[in-house]
Amino acid sequence: MARIRGLGFAMVVLLSGWGLSQVQSQPLKPKLSTRLEPVAETKLLMEGIADPNARGLARLLADKPREAEAWVFVRGQSLLLAELGNLLLLRPPKTRAAEDAWMAHAAELRGYATTLARAAAAKDYLAARSALADVANTCNRCHQTFRVAIRVDPFAED
Ligand code: HEC
Repeated sequence: MARIRGLGFAMVVLLSGWGLSQVQSQPLKPKLSTRLEPVAETKLLMEGIADPNARGLARLLADKPREAEAWVFVRGQSLLLAELGNLLLLRPPKTRAAEDAWMAHAAELRGYATTLARAAAAKDYLAARSALADVANTCNRCHQTFRVAIRVDPFAED
């Protein structure tokens, strides 16, 4: 055993001699912190969370859902949009004026999407459609404020 350990030590000395000690001594470690901090680009959240769930909701609510399962999906997709509101609250733009507008739009998204989830839980079609329109208007208002050329129409054919 002693011989093997000695050999290991020799190897490390050898590697550091070659300038590889950094690679050896600092493996990739996650930065652990309990503070909330954004990691993904906003564009990725829009493509991965906002867009698919908004489209899913438009499809599911195009007509009154007949299956209980469809309402379960509506509720789930709404709650994902509501959580997106939380994620957006973590990544406002840098300037003060822009930050205020951003936070207001993000909070609205969370609020209207939560209302939609409640309407889905109650299987209330009219309330759900109206909340979905509120959600889509929120998407559009934020895009207008930040000059994003994307228009969300919840009941458009695509
Ligand atoms: C708080 C502001 C805000 C809200 C609310 C918001 N967005 Fe966005 N969205 C943005 C910004 C900013 C971009 C541009 C991101 C970029 O390109 O860096 C964007 C871009 C997009 C894009 C284009 C992504 C691409 O591929 O370039 C889509 C699609 C989108 N949003 C859908 C939605 C939908 C659907 C909703 C509502 C459920 C929504 N957004 C709500 C700010 C918002």
